[in-house]
Order: sequence, then C-alpha cells, then structure tokens
Amino acid sequence: MVWLLPRTREAVRSRQHRGIITAVVIAMSGCADSYLPATRGAGSVPSADVSHYPLRTDWLVVGKTGLDGAPKRWPTPGFSPLKSAQFPQLTPDRDLAEDVRAQLGRNVLDPANLTSGQVSRLARLLDEYFGTPLQPCVRLPDWPALMVLSQARADVQKGVLANLALVGQRLQSWEAGSRQALRRQWDQALQTWKLLRLDDATLARGSVLYRRWCLACHGPTGAGDGRQAVAQAAWPRDYRQGIFKFTTAFPPPDLPRVGRGPAGKPLRADLIRTLRRGIDGSMMPAFPHLSDEEIEALVSYVIHLSIRGETEFATMARAMQPTEEDPDFEGPELDALFVKNLVDVLYNWGAAAQHPIPIPPHYLRNEDDRLLSALRGYKLYNSAEFGCASCHVKYGSEQQLKWDLWGGVVQPRNLLLGVYRGGRRGQDLYARLYGGIHPSGMPSFRNTLATGPSYPDRPDKIWNVVHFLQALADPYDRQRLQDPQLLERFKKRLRQQGDLFLDDVTRVTIDF
Ligand code: HEC
Ligand code: HEC
Repeated sequence: MVWLLPRTREAVRSRQHRGIITAVVIAMSGCADSYLPATRGAGSVPSADVSHYPLRTDWLVVGKTGLDGAPKRWPTPGFSPLKSAQFPQLTPDRDLAEDVRAQLGRNVLDPANLTSGQVSRLARLLDEYFGTPLQPCVRLPDWPALMVLSQARADVQKGVLANLALVGQRLQSWEAGSRQALRRQWDQALQTWKLLRLDDATLARGSVLYRRWCLACHGPTGAGDGRQAVAQAAWPRDYRQGIFKFTTAFPPPDLPRVGRGPAGKPLRADLIRTLRRGIDGSMMPAFPHLSDEEIEALVSYVIHLSIRGETEFATMARAMQPTEEDPDFEGPELDALFVKNLVDVLYNWGAAAQHPIPIPPHYLRNEDDRLLSALRGYKLYNSAEFGCASCHVKYGSEQQLKWDLWGGVVQPRNLLLGVYRGGRRGQDLYARLYGGIHPSGMPSFRNTLATGPSYPDRPDKIWNVVHFLQALADPYDRQRLQDPQLLERFKKRLRQQGDLFLDDVTRVTIDF
C-alpha cells in the first residue's frame, strides 16, 4: 500500500497543523478542473429530499465472507435481518436478530459508535466530494493535494510556515518508487473517472431519472430501502458496498489488493444489461422504454451512488476499527482516510473495467454436439471437484439458505426452473460460472473449469456445464440425457477418438 498515514502519537497530535498545511496547499494548487472539489454556491434552494444525502446510520457487515453460520429461515418481508438486529423491539424475527447481534463488533459494526466529530466531518466530506441529489458529482483530490495528504507529518512545536518547509523537504526526500506507485494509482483513478462518465451534467440527468424510476425501490442513497422495498423476495440492491452480483468483469484475485479490492465491480455494460432486461425472478423490472442516452445517465448515477456509498462504508468501517498504530481518525486524519478510500474505490472500478471475462465460442455445429457437451457437463457438475451439488442440493430444488455480503438471505438457485437472474443466454451462464457470484458466496470456477484449451475446437469445460444446465432446465432434454442408448452411442464415438472422458459414467440419472 502506497498510502502513508501518521503512525506515531506525536503525529496524531499534530493533526491540526497538518490540516492547515493541507488547506494551504490545496488553496495554492488552483483547482479548476471539473473533477476537483468545488464549493457549491447557495444558488438554488432545493426541496427537502433533494437537498441532501443522509449519512448512513444502518449497520455495516464487514466480515470478509459476510456473517458466520447460516440463516435459520427466510426473514419476514420488510425486515432484513440487519434491520431486525438494529431494532429488535420492532421485529417479528427475534431469532434472526439475535444471530446477527451476536456478531456485533466482529462481523457487524454500528455507525452509532462514531464520535460526533467524526460524523459531522464525514458528512461534510461526503457533501464536498459527492454533492447532493440535486447536484450530484464525484470529485477527486488533485495530485499536489494528494501528495501532501500522504506525506504531511507536521511538527506541533513549529509554526505553519516552518511546517510547510518541512513538508517540502519530506516531499523531496520521498522515496521515488512509492511516489510513482501513488501517482500511477491516481492516474488510473482519473482515467476511470472519465471512463465511467461521471461528469456533472450526466449525473444531474441520471439523478432526475433515478428519482422517477428507481428511488421507490433502491432509496435515495442506493441503500435498497425505498418505500416499495418492503414486500420483495429479493431485497433491492444496496449499492453502497460497491458490489454487484451479475457482472462480466473478473479482475484476477492475485492482483495487488488496494482498499477493499475490485471483486464484484461491474462493467458499465453489465449495468446497462440489467436495466434493459431487468432481473428475472426478482421485482427488478426491465426498462425497455428508456432511450440509450437515458440508460447511460442512469448507469452513471448508479455508479455515483455506489462510489459514494463505498467510500462512506470504507471510511466508517476503518474509523470504527482503530488499531494501536492508527489510534483514531479525527479531524484531518479522517480527511486523509476518506480521500485515500475514494482513490482506492475508483482505482478498483478501473481494475474491473480492464478485466472483462473472455468468453470463447461454444463450438456447437449440431444437436449431437450439444447433447455430448451436456453429457460432459453432467459429469463435471456432479464431480466432487466442483461441488455444485453441495450448494445446489438436488439441483437447487431443496432449500439451503445462506447469508450474502449485505447480511441478506439468498438461496442457491433452483437450476431445474431455467430462471436465471443474470440472464439465460449461454454467454450469461458462462460468465456466471467463470466469475462466480461474489456477494452470494458462489465461487469462481475460472481456475478449475476454465483451465487450458482442453479441446481447441470444442466447447471448453465451462461450456460443457452451461450446456448441461440448459438441458437440465428443459424436461424433454432432461429425458434424452438419461437415455442409456444415447450414452452408449457417445461413449463409443469418443472411444474411437481415444477420448475416455465418459467411460466411467455408467448411467445418467437426474434425481430431484
Ligand atoms: C420494483 C422495485 C425495483 C425498481 C423500481 C428498480 N429496481 Fe433495481 N433491483 C430491484 C431488486 C429486487 C433487485 C435485486 C435482485 C436480486 O437480488 O437478484 C434489484 C437490483 C438492481 C441492480 C443490481 C444488479 C446486480 O448485478 O447486482 C441494479 C444495478 C439495479 N437494480 C438498478 C436499478 C435502476 C437503475 C432502477 C431504475 C431505473 C431500478 N433498479 C429500479 C428492484 C427494483
Ligand atoms: C458455495 C455455494 C455454491 C456453489 C459451490 C455453487 N453455487 Fe451456484 N449459486 C449459489 C448461490 C447462493 C446462488 C444464488 C445467488 C443469488 O441469488 O444471489 C447461485 C446461483 C447459481 C446460478 C444462477 C445464476 C443466475 O444468473 O441466476 C447458476 C446457474 C449456478 N449457481 C450454477 C452453479 C454451478 C454449475 C455450480 C458448480 C460448477 C455452482 N453453481 C456452485 C451458490 C453456489
């Protein structure tokens, strides 16, 4: 990590000085470009609900894999388990509330533990960098300000000018490697800002459309807490962790980790697909009547809420988990933490954008190819190596509840129904298996199923499983796959080619 924060007690005491220095340097650096924070004039007087984004008060699930254990049952509509835990007097789900409360302080954090100084400072930072629903924006610190924030360690014994000189010296003696690394990260964050189309005009347009079409379910800050959210089987997505389910980006897990990492970040194309087609099997509607330009603006606005929410989340979570080295994040320390998180979040959106999932052709020429590929997929699906059946018990027809990363409840999909939230085309299913469904705990099969071009001109293993899934959801295909004569015919054909893959399959039985 290239970001350096003061580590000593003296440095913490010197916060005030550092704040002044930062302010002076930012003032000197002359912020003119539109990605920079600007003070908004008192111009218009917006109506109550668009003048302000409320600060987050609901609990944060911070555990790396979400909550421990498994939910006992589906929650009552309108009471997410987290909400039940936060308001135990109001909920009918006392048991679920207790399970979550038991993890408080470990996997779950309560923003009520922030100090009032932290709360007001964070609210001001969020306003400054992300604006209001009426004038939404995403600002980045400029490079000089970022350098100062990362290097300034003021000396309380000295005056402001002497301290400025000190910062100058530090900047000069700053190790070139780590400065360049920070510079690269900032450059990429800036590129990503452009790529994600986060300019003020697009966001303002998106915000109007969002209030019209999305707010009722997804809520003003994208918390998924709109008025209509109450009776939904799948809770409207909470964008505020910067995590999505149905993405076709897969930044390799071995990338150097910055901040909370890029897992679960979508491509713009993924969000466009979600809006155009909706999410089958949930209340998320399709929006076929909106123009391309309107969809683009909505996507930018969802990304704005997501970046805002994740910066808020990461800053709150860190400020509530002080360590011996970082005893507190008050005052300018909090500014430094906030800005670092913002740059990290943008950097991670960029990392996702650079790694779209490569989807090879499925190489099916005829019906026989398809059935053979599905038979291979049957064997792969049921092998212990991939473990599909350990979560999708009886092909998912048997209930197996799990926590998702928001502290919500999910069920491994019933694969017999052919209802897929991320899309039912072969390429959609391919992407799902390649990348997994990060926030739901479904693992990626990139390193196992996608290894090597096992058959250069034939469907690879992921395609085999996709073809199996497609056959599984079709009663007629299901019947044909179980036909012993079909199996024998294919085995014989493969043996002639020296391929023994299906040899140990004696019978195909699909029980559920
Ligand atoms: C009737 C309620 C409803 C409305 C209106 C609605 N959504 Fe959703 N949305 C949902 C639900 C429910 C989900 C979660 C589905 C799931 O978990 O699979 C969702 C999920 C999403 C996702 C997450 C996709 C992913 O990959 O994780 C995005 C993005 C989204 N909605 C954007 C929007 C936008 C933008 C609008 C307005 C144009 C909108 N939604 C309107 C209910 C709604
Ligand atoms: C650790 C548990 C787990 C394992 C292992 C697992 N899944 Fe899943 N899977 C899930 C969960 C949970 C969901 C539902 C996600 C949601 O709705 O948020 C899911 C959803 C799916 C979906 C639906 C995608 C969509 O767009 O709706 C498919 C298809 C799927 N799994 C196939 C597989 C296959 C094939 C395997 C084995 C190669 C597998 N899964 C292994 C947990 C698992």
